[in-house]
Amino acid sequence: MRRLDLGPLRRASYAGGVRSAFPRLHGLALVVVLVLSACAASGSPAPAEGADAALFDGQAIYERQCASCHRADGSGGRGPRLNRDRVLVNYETVEDQIQFLEVGRGAMPGFGSRLDAAELDAVVRYTREVLANTG
Ligand code: HEC
Repeated sequence: MRRLDLGPLRRASYAGGVRSAFPRLHGLALVVVLVLSACAASGSPAPAEGADAALFDGQAIYERQCASCHRADGSGGRGPRLNRDRVLVNYETVEDQIQFLEVGRGAMPGFGSRLDAAELDAVVRYTREVLANTG
């Protein structure tokens, strides 16, 4: 049986080999940064410019806590879609929808102990005032 050729490995362990590997690492870091910023750019729909700051907070909370199941654009995945007026039809008021969000239902976790009152209000308003108008 042929022995494994460890030549390249041995060569890379020379100090010179290690130094010359750094520029490549920088290149890799740049690619990672570019990919991450591309992901951020394809996040959830943004509130209109100049909108109430709470809606921007709501967008950030939605992206962090909800998008994994309802998808960034609210079109649904593991959880149902939340766009196209759905929450407006199913919850008459912000308060009704906050009550649902606090306790959850089935595979939908409750957020009453994870989000404070202002955060609950912000993310619910975001789904009603921004997400509901898309899709
Ligand atoms: C682990 C997955 C998951 C996460 C995270 C999640 N949801 Fe859900 N969500 C679901 C599922 C599943 C349902 C359907 C529950 C049912 O009807 O039994 C649901 C239902 C809902 C509904 C009800 C829709 C309707 O028409 O009645 C709303 C509103 C909602 N989610 C909002 C949110 C918000 C806002 C967040 C973030 C704060 C969130 N969800 C996070 C899975 C999730």
